[in-house]
Amino acid sequence: VIGVNEPATIAWDESSSCIRFIDQTQLPETFSIVECRTVDRLATAIRRLEIRGAPALGVAGAFGVALAAVTCTKKDRMEFFSDIRRSSDLLASTRPTAINLSWGIRRVLTAMRGAVSVRECREIAVNEALTIAREDEACCRAIGDSGAALLPLTCTVLTHCNAGSLACTAWGTALGVVRSAIGQGKDIRVIACETRPLLQGSRLTAWELVRDKIDVTVVTDSMAAHLMRQGAIDTVIVGADRITRDAVFNKIGTYMHAVCARHHGIPFYVAAPLSTFDADHGEQDIIIEERARDEVATCGARTIVPDGVKVRNPAFDSTPMSLIAAIITEHGVLRPPIDMKGLNIHRPTT
Ligand code: MRU
Repeated sequence: VIGVNEPATIAWDESSSCIRFIDQTQLPETFSIVECRTVDRLATAIRRLEIRGAPALGVAGAFGVALAAVTCTKKDRMEFFSDIRRSSDLLASTRPTAINLSWGIRRVLTAMRGAVSVRECREIAVNEALTIAREDEACCRAIGDSGAALLPLTCTVLTHCNAGSLACTAWGTALGVVRSAIGQGKDIRVIACETRPLLQGSRLTAWELVRDKIDVTVVTDSMAAHLMRQGAIDTVIVGADRITRDAVFNKIGTYMHAVCARHHGIPFYVAAPLSTFDADHGEQDIIIEERARDEVATCGARTIVPDGVKVRNPAFDSTPMSLIAAIITEHGVLRPPIDMKGLNIHRPTT
């Protein structure tokens, strides 16, 4: 149940004022740490999914604004802020569906607003980003503790994509629930769907669970319905990239599992912090990120779709609230219909 990566998934290096992160595109073959010194490099890392997963993106956005602040050479406060704004807009545009990214960016920008000097802006930006990173781990542990009570003493959990310590600063959301339940002495096994096209399930979820000695079996996404029909799955738990009033946006393939779980009478849970909630929008308002053709049309060095054939590659899908048994948050378990206006969602403004 260790749930902490060493070095961390993403961290601020105070001695050289840069961001250090695990390059998740290299896993499971290579564990490599990147030292990121520019906002452009960070934007590339987010676009390429070197850093990924909603809470980790929130922390990346926050550290990105801090990096923009410490590297900006402008002395005039107005010019300084216009540079920071440009960097923030660039970072926010890299993964628009995952709301935590813009949430982390806006939280640091809001904190900086009261600063009287450029120097103070830099200090506030770094401190606020460090606070966001610290809070993330505590938040994931609280989500884990809330959700663990939902699982029976012996349970096989199906999960999709990676909502673990690699998707957060530590512990994880969906995998945080698994870790907390094991910590309480429960016997939990995980079925990790490989998660086409970029294989976050087989590459990342399996990597972090086996390292922590948690029982994990990888299946292709198309095997999930068969396993549910055989009675081999007790519960589904996934993370989320954005939760609107009426739907949960998460990695493409999530909706398919929710439909199958409903058909087989299996509870379908979403584990996410309140920073992933978007009370201002409904499902129809959200544009789903469409990614490059090559991610589907190639596998390693091989071409697996004939040249000239059209490909679709939406990164996320949306699951209506009606298919969700509960959303597990740091403030407890919420059962739909959820009154989002009644939740204490910290939504910074700029
Ligand atoms: O494209 P990715 O790998 O960033 O997608 C990640 C997911 O869909 C996760 O399930 C989600 O961000 C929750 S992570 C705790």
